[in-house]
Amino acid sequence: MDCTAKLYGDLTKILVKREDIAVAVKRLGEQITKDYEGHELMVVGILKGAIVFYSDLIREIDLPMRTDFMAVSSYGSATKSSGVVQLRKDLDRPVEGMDVLIVEDIVDSGMTLSYLKRVFQDRGAASVRIATLLDKPARRRVELKADYFCFTIPDEFVVGYGLDYDEKYRNLPDIGVLHPRIYAGE
Ligand code: IMP
Ligand code: MG
Repeated sequence: MDCTAKLYGDLTKILVKREDIAVAVKRLGEQITKDYEGHELMVVGILKGAIVFYSDLIREIDLPMRTDFMAVSSYGSATKSSGVVQLRKDLDRPVEGMDVLIVEDIVDSGMTLSYLKRVFQDRGAASVRIATLLDKPARRRVELKADYFCFTIPDEFVVGYGLDYDEKYRNLPDIGVLHPRIYAGE
């Protein structure tokens, strides 16, 4: 059995196929291109879950932009958020006066993004918007709406296309539901 087949064996099903992701990301890039015309865009990727989405999305945005990254953690290796957000890596440059677009993999409880939104507002960004690949509204603990999203998903733990469980499965090209036996001992 090859490596990819083995990874797929850990899923109960594929939730979003790579072809559908590509179409949605392209459409989102076009929308962002329209909305930000004439603006100085700063696109901030949230490490590490957003890396694959980020690299595809920025190539669909037809505007000059600056790129930067932040790393935060609220998870450890568990499938449930701890609710405490920690800033692990900050931006390399100030964001004062910039139009910031935060690119994230998934909005779950909403804690990470409401924290980050506040950080950018406090630093004097001209505007702050959120683009997320996935939205899991059933698990929201704080009020948070993404300005842009590709797919709304049910309350299930998903991996692939950058999303991980215990740092694994990020390289799966599709998004799938992880079999509960994988995290049963948690
Ligand atoms: P939130 O702060 O609860 O909204 O969640 C933030 C982070 O939890 C996301 O950026 C993901 O890294 C992680 N996360 C939430 N749900 C999932 C999931 O279903 N699969 C993988 N990671 C997830
Ligand atoms: Mg993340």
